[in-house]
Amino acid sequence: MPRIKEEVIEEILAKTDIVDVIGEKVSLSKKGKSYFGLCPFHQEKTPSFSVEPNMKIYNCFSCGEKGNAATFLQKTENLSYVEALESLAKRAHMTVDFEGYKKEDPNKHLYQINQDAMQFYEFFLKNTVSGKEARKYLHDRGITDELIAEFHIGLAPEEYDTLYNTLIDKGHVAVDLHNLGLIKRSKQETFYDLFRSRIIFPIIDEENRVVAFSGRLYKDEEGPKYINSPQTDVFTKSSTLYNMQNALFHIKKHKRVILTEGYMDVIAFYKANMQEAVASMGTSLTNDQVRKLKRYTNEVYIAYDGDNAGLDATARAIELFHQAGMQVKIILLPDKLDPDDYLHKYSPDALQEFALNKWIDPLEFQYLRQLKTIDSTKLMDIEGFKKVVFDLIKNTSNTVIERYLSKLSKDIDVSLESVKQDFEQYTKRFIKQASKTMRAVIPIDSKYAIAERKLLNYFLLDRKYFISYNNKFDELFFIDPVVRDIKMLIEDKHYELYDEDITRRITVNELMPLLNEQQQVFFQEKVYNKYEELTEAEYIDYVHTIEEYVHYLTKIKDLEEKIQTADTVEEKIKYANIRDKTIKEVKHG
Ligand code: CTP
Ligand code: MN
Repeated sequence: MPRIKEEVIEEILAKTDIVDVIGEKVSLSKKGKSYFGLCPFHQEKTPSFSVEPNMKIYNCFSCGEKGNAATFLQKTENLSYVEALESLAKRAHMTVDFEGYKKEDPNKHLYQINQDAMQFYEFFLKNTVSGKEARKYLHDRGITDELIAEFHIGLAPEEYDTLYNTLIDKGHVAVDLHNLGLIKRSKQETFYDLFRSRIIFPIIDEENRVVAFSGRLYKDEEGPKYINSPQTDVFTKSSTLYNMQNALFHIKKHKRVILTEGYMDVIAFYKANMQEAVASMGTSLTNDQVRKLKRYTNEVYIAYDGDNAGLDATARAIELFHQAGMQVKIILLPDKLDPDDYLHKYSPDALQEFALNKWIDPLEFQYLRQLKTIDSTKLMDIEGFKKVVFDLIKNTSNTVIERYLSKLSKDIDVSLESVKQDFEQYTKRFIKQASKTMRAVIPIDSKYAIAERKLLNYFLLDRKYFISYNNKFDELFFIDPVVRDIKMLIEDKHYELYDEDITRRITVNELMPLLNEQQQVFFQEKVYNKYEELTEAEYIDYVHTIEEYVHYLTKIKDLEEKIQTADTVEEKIKYANIRDKTIKEVKHG
């Protein structure tokens, strides 16, 4: 494939008004020579996104996205680079022939076969006697002819080779049909159709290509409820979501996506006038699917089935979306219903109302989920539940803490006073961890990481060290969570020995059984050295190092807060620069 000449690209970009192009999607205001707006690539409340008309680039100094008008279109409209340039050339009234530059898709014929298969299934549903019966099944489930057309639902005939013959007659070859999983080879070396006597849901990707099929039983017959196309050259199940082609526009428009488990649930939301629903098709969500969604929106509503499997899948999905920095809301349907059941039990309006107004946040979801697992007449259960809830809320605001403590007191039927006391007791030993940014930048052999490790030896040696240490740093920061955990175990041991002997040291032999395997290895390799002399002077040095670290940490935290709350873009940039400089300093400690 020939490459587009640099000069042509340059001319297209030169003739493009980048402010104009971006201005269609981001509301921009002029400041000096630049334009600013809310970054379309991440969620924010104050503008960090700048467009530089002179340099013809955009840049977000909050999330780091940058590029030119072509990359902007590529990312926001899901185009290839060539397509983006083509679109810009059109805007600039240039005549460039792009056909020769477009990549000829090597799988084009496979998509064509799937397209033909889809049309065959649709035709068969519409125009045959068995189609009539299948349509009755669909109508009974509230899937009208309009919905059948919208989702290209079809029917696979009962015979063994109708699809096979139809596609061969169209000029396609058996080996391709076989590769697409549409046909299988029998022991007698003949071919037969994979889908027989099933309602067909085609799976279409966001570029409108038919990539796979799923077939559902609709008669009282033996066999799995759904069977699916295998993985093929055009279908990777783990990165595909059902209904992306229809939902994409609505996801962008409403800036949210609804994630369901199944085909019927997507259709249920469609009926509830929420067309931004997609399905992960029964398998557990993958990072590829998360990344795909994140390209279009930062907010996801999880509407998995309300049964136990659905709850587990929801918990997992929350984790993945959080790792990707996305906002999550959970549509937790009652009585183990799935969205389609809910719609039929109540109404389309009720489903919409539930989705928009009765969603819960991840914290509440986890709270409810844990609550369900306990027997509130069992003291052990209650104690365990309290700890789980304390862990869930300890990092949150006072308002959230208040709310959950009062919820907790009601749910386990213990006075609020006593729950509050327990929480305070529990969080006393809760030790703050360094912010994620910081932990990410501190090299494992920085003097700060070494200091906190080496201090563990002193804590073993004499209780006075950790007492003075705890007094000094009333808010403790740890770079390495393993160090934090070992320190807690050492403290517990000291308390256990409290009545014995004031100068009692804890030996390594005593410590080891208290540690898990990972902690043991860590301690032996990174902390303990039996030839090392533990001097008072060195202890003081280590403490100074930690002081320095805490100083940086506080500074960076302050700056991050300032970046968040700054009124002007100029100020934001200023603070961001100082923050980055400070992080560099710590790094090279
Ligand atoms: N699924 C599958 N293979 C199966 C069962 C399920 O691929 N044997 C996938 C399908 O994508 C299905 C989703 O998992 O849509 C959810 O399964 P389930 O809740 O059992 O089906 P529903 O979507 O609720 O379908 P229906 O209402 O028709 O039972
Ligand atoms: Mn269902």
